[in-house]
Amino acid sequence: MSKRISLTTQTHQFIKKYLNTGDIAIDSTVGNGHDTLFLARQVDRNGLVFGFDVQQQAIESTQTRLDTNLSFKNSTLFNTSHENLIEFIPNQYHGKVKAIMFNLGYLPGSDKAIITQTDSTLFSLNQAIKLLASNGVITIMAYPGHSGGDLETKQIRCWCKQLNTDKYVMKQIYSSEKASAPVLFTIQKN
Ligand SMILES: C[S@@+](CC[C@H](N)C(=O)[O-])C[C@H]1O[C@@H](n2cnc3c(N)ncnc32)[C@H](O)[C@@H]1O
Repeated sequence: MSKRISLTTQTHQFIKKYLNTGDIAIDSTVGNGHDTLFLARQVDRNGLVFGFDVQQQAIESTQTRLDTNLSFKNSTLFNTSHENLIEFIPNQYHGKVKAIMFNLGYLPGSDKAIITQTDSTLFSLNQAIKLLASNGVITIMAYPGHSGGDLETKQIRCWCKQLNTDKYVMKQIYSSEKASAPVLFTIQKN
């Protein structure tokens, strides 16, 4: 029987096809820093990573993970909502970002009340699209099984479907057939 590949691994495999040394990337929800570290390694010492999280605890644990695992510093973390993407990413990088990750929901092992919200997620996705470079990608991991996550996932699906198909290629990858199972949305700009 073939082994199922986790959606996180599939997300990283997808991004690796587009994100190279020296590129610019954003982790919109740094959490425990696993995705930020992945992006930081992928763009390497000449690249740049910007990370966002509303929880100070997430920023600290991500900074520690980066400091422990990398011999260089290429990442800047902001303790603010990803609704402020455009404001916090320097103007010179607008339209030049090659990968933007959204891993929604709550921080594992932390306060489950601090969870991404449909309105602010959609608000920041509209900003993410403006920051994206040609051949850049957005990934969104959504959790319909979480409280509020069902609506958030549905709204994200609607948002993805209204994207201009001449410009963007959108795919949905399901982790299982269960309605509550996580969903990965990938968007690639032509
Ligand atoms: C599933 S976790 C992210 C996991 C992370 N990518 C990792 O690799 O460990 C979701 C994170 O989103 C954060 N979050 C919730 N609302 C947010 C918002 N409006 N802006 C930025 N981060 C937010 C939470 O604090 C939590 O740390």
